[in-house]
Amino acid sequence: MSHDLMAQRHIHFSSSLEILDIFNLENQVTLFPGDCLALLADMPDGVADLVVTSPPYNLGKEYEKKLDLDIYVSQQKTIIGECVRILKPTGSICWQVGNYVDKGSILPLDILLYPIFHELGLQLRNRIIWHFEHGLHCTRRFSGRYETILWFTKSDDYFFDIDPVRVPQKYPGKKYFKGPKAGQYSCNPKGKNPGDLWVIPNVKHNHVEKTIHPCQFPVELIERLVLSMTPKHGLVFDPFMGVGSSAVAALINGRRAAGAEIYPEYLQVARERLTLAGQGLLRTRPMTQPVFDPDNGGSVAKNPFASSLKDRS
Ligand SMILES: C[S@@+](CC[C@H](N)C(=O)[O-])C[C@H]1O[C@@H](n2cnc3c(N)ncnc32)[C@H](O)[C@@H]1O
Repeated sequence: MSHDLMAQRHIHFSSSLEILDIFNLENQVTLFPGDCLALLADMPDGVADLVVTSPPYNLGKEYEKKLDLDIYVSQQKTIIGECVRILKPTGSICWQVGNYVDKGSILPLDILLYPIFHELGLQLRNRIIWHFEHGLHCTRRFSGRYETILWFTKSDDYFFDIDPVRVPQKYPGKKYFKGPKAGQYSCNPKGKNPGDLWVIPNVKHNHVEKTIHPCQFPVELIERLVLSMTPKHGLVFDPFMGVGSSAVAALINGRRAAGAEIYPEYLQVARERLTLAGQGLLRTRPMTQPVFDPDNGGSVAKNPFASSLKDRS
């Protein structure tokens, strides 16, 4: 982790984090126990720098009822409209989704929801592919190993700072071989733009951030959005807070956070995580940690069938 990032992270740690349930612009963290529309109704226009969320996918998970698709889309439309209202003119909205699945047939939710954002006049800046390596094993189609983040802005004049989220160059020693800069290093010494395909482990059982929630964000995924799309002290809003991963990403990077969650059990975990994060004690997977390399995975990474496969060939 760079020194800049360490400094940003540590500036706001304090042992007396107040987690409030009624929204106020000055709150460092607002966790509303209830429906996001009720919280949104209490929020003024144009206050959020970033809205980032993963809504229910209408799959009938433990925290949702499977709805008729038209009803689901119309509920999403109401919530998205309210999120856009509370977004600053310079702000961004990131809607992270996967597939709706019906009898084995998939419908990517970004395809379904894109028209809502378009009709509200938002501009799509990236469709980020979030690739991860673990999940359900499908037998009648290829196993799903990515989800997407639709990143929209409200205007052309949007906040964006790539520097805090640059990643190491592939060839840092490469030089210009001709022209006026011949012999000079050609890459940006601060690192390169991470692109729009992000390989970030999802939160499964052996992940350091795993809680009781079945579908939580890895904090590092949201940190990349928070750091590039919001100024320091900016407000990050998540209508579907779950166990508070987006609020954690905001808090550890010196931003304010607000959001709602209907399930008290998840809210309680969110409170506990935020309290630890406020003290600098919450363990999260660092953005700079390389993805686990199975070649270093010990005995389970060795193929016990290798010799018998060779014998058969
Ligand atoms: C996909 S999960 C989000 C998980 C979250 N990103 C995290 O890292 O913990 C969606 C969450 O939205 C909550 N939820 C569903 N409908 C809601 C509503 N109307 N208002 C607030 N929360 C809601 C669910 O209980 C669930 O925890």
